[in-house]
Amino acid sequence: MIGGTRGLGLELARAAHVLGARVTVGGRDREVADEAARSVGEECRANVCDLTDWSSIETFISACGPIDHLILTAVDRDVRPLTDYRPEESARAILMKTVGYATAIHHALPRFRPNASVVMFGGLSAWRPAPGSTTLSTANSAIIGLMNSLALEVAPVRVNTIVPGAVGDSAATLNAPPENRGAFEALRTRTPTRRLVTTKNVVAATFALLDNDGINALPLVVDGGIIRT
Ligand SMILES: NC(=O)c1ccc[n+]([C@@H]2O[C@H](COP(=O)([O-])OP(=O)(O)OC[C@H]3O[C@@H](n4cnc5c(N)ncnc54)[C@H](OP(=O)(O)O)[C@@H]3O)[C@@H](O)[C@H]2O)c1
Repeated sequence: MIGGTRGLGLELARAAHVLGARVTVGGRDREVADEAARSVGEECRANVCDLTDWSSIETFISACGPIDHLILTAVDRDVRPLTDYRPEESARAILMKTVGYATAIHHALPRFRPNASVVMFGGLSAWRPAPGSTTLSTANSAIIGLMNSLALEVAPVRVNTIVPGAVGDSAATLNAPPENRGAFEALRTRTPTRRLVTTKNVVAATFALLDNDGINALPLVVDGGIIRT
């Protein structure tokens, strides 16, 4: 679980651990990763993985045993308008979510078990941009292309994508700057279900992709139907 030290990744790690999976969480900082693993449970392991540091990705994957599922949730949010565009920061965030994800899958190839699968995390901003989302929209669009290609290239390993809308109870939403809160409320009222999706919704959708070996190359949108409005 790369990006398993916080947020949706950490909740997925907890849910998988409860079901008896042997989970390894990865993030950039050793102490943060160790603390995350401790909070999951005794069997959970932690290792450092920086998706912008190619050798760190190889080291992380090589410390894993055989892999049933590789889940990539990591994100480095660079949210700003184009008038304040910062190429270095944008490039780092996009590379992490594209080349970083692909590099992790590359190194995992010899370790995948026969029924293995990959789940990558994109975001609705690929199709429904929000103010300041240019970098994230770019990265999240690329995830779909990456999935389409890899689902053929690494077959029979399945490759799917979770595409969350704004997750109402996630830190990313709850800690958004006050000026953005109105946007989330507007989003909620426009959502056909009249509520933002929850972490629990996203975790359940991820398990559907992991467990169902008939699902492959699917961008599973978890957004309460707002994409249709
Ligand atoms: N939350 C939402 O409302 C929402 C909406 C749409 C899409 N999504 C997508 O869902 C996924 C999870 O989002 P979230 O809100 O749960 O994220 P989050 O709470 O911000 O957590 C981000 C995770 O990414 C890791 N990370 C950041 N940079 C990294 C790097 N260079 N290498 C390795 N790990 C790195 C962080 O670990 P360290 O800091 O320990 O390195 C952390 O575990 C993301 O892909 C996001 O785009 C979320």
